Amino acid sequence: MRLLSGMRPTGRLHIGHLVGALNTWLSLQGEYECLFMIADWHALTTSSDTSKLPENIIEMAQDWRALGIDFTRSTVFVQSCVKEHAELYLLFGMLTPMPWLERDPTLKNMMEDMHLRGACYGLMGYPVLQAADIALYKAEAVPVGSDQVPHVELAREIVRAFNHRFSLVFPEPQAILSHTPRLPGTDGRKMSKSLDNAVFLDETPENIRRKVMQLVTDPGKIHATDVGNPDICSVHDYHKVFRASDASQADSDCRAGRLGCVRHKQYLSEILSSYLAPFREARAALTGKESETRAMLKAGGERAGKMAKETMEGARKAANLQFS
Ligand code: TRP
Repeated sequence: MRLLSGMRPTGRLHIGHLVGALNTWLSLQGEYECLFMIADWHALTTSSDTSKLPENIIEMAQDWRALGIDFTRSTVFVQSCVKEHAELYLLFGMLTPMPWLERDPTLKNMMEDMHLRGACYGLMGYPVLQAADIALYKAEAVPVGSDQVPHVELAREIVRAFNHRFSLVFPEPQAILSHTPRLPGTDGRKMSKSLDNAVFLDETPENIRRKVMQLVTDPGKIHATDVGNPDICSVHDYHKVFRASDASQADSDCRAGRLGCVRHKQYLSEILSSYLAPFREARAALTGKESETRAMLKAGGERAGKMAKETMEGARKAANLQFS
């Protein structure tokens, strides 16, 4: 079975990316034939400033390598290197009724976020392009975070519309959800680089400590010996994800007033620092190897391009777009 997933190259990766998607990618790498894509065209749907794009693409690829994405076994590539994405996107656009896009909740949120800066036509097509990304490789499995599920649902509908209108060319993709719940940012909101509340993967232990100290805890717990409610505490959310083995102990200690928030935060900083240490080391070892990574991406693009070409031939034929 073939699997595809992607990420927009918007800068340094944070632990939200890891928990929401990358850990699942890593665990599925042995089970599926994998394609991992750097979605640079998707990055343009919310900002036409491309000045940082080349740098962000390499940085993201380096991060993926350091995490253990295997560039030889999996096909890792940059979206815009395979032009067929644009062609299939155009064709899918002809089969996607506007109301389908208007009711995609993730797209709706993005549109609202962009409201003041002015959303472009390209943003409306975000899920259509994503459907093309998946279908181009006839991928059946799409590991994503929960916010991406509406897009994958839409991809299923678009693919179904194509198969129904023309002929059966594409399999219907299925989202594979990460089991881990979403991690809040240091201010309790959704973790995001632009909200300045993210813990990055390459964070130094000092920075980890500083950021963990900012995490939002139960506002009713003022003193170390007050009883607390772990269900509304970000420190507990993190603890469960990064060291499940003693999280339930911390949970009951907090409820009994035996664990103060500051002590819990100090402990979490240590947990997180040691969790991220292997990544930090692997990432540092890749500094200076940018051109090697670039070559790997190029090779991945060539492999992906071959698959895409073949699919597109079939799609063109099915849609009577082979004038000769
Ligand atoms: N929209 C995805 C995100 O922001 C990135 C993405 C682009 C993607 N194309 C994809 C994910 C295809 C899965 C499949 O995270």
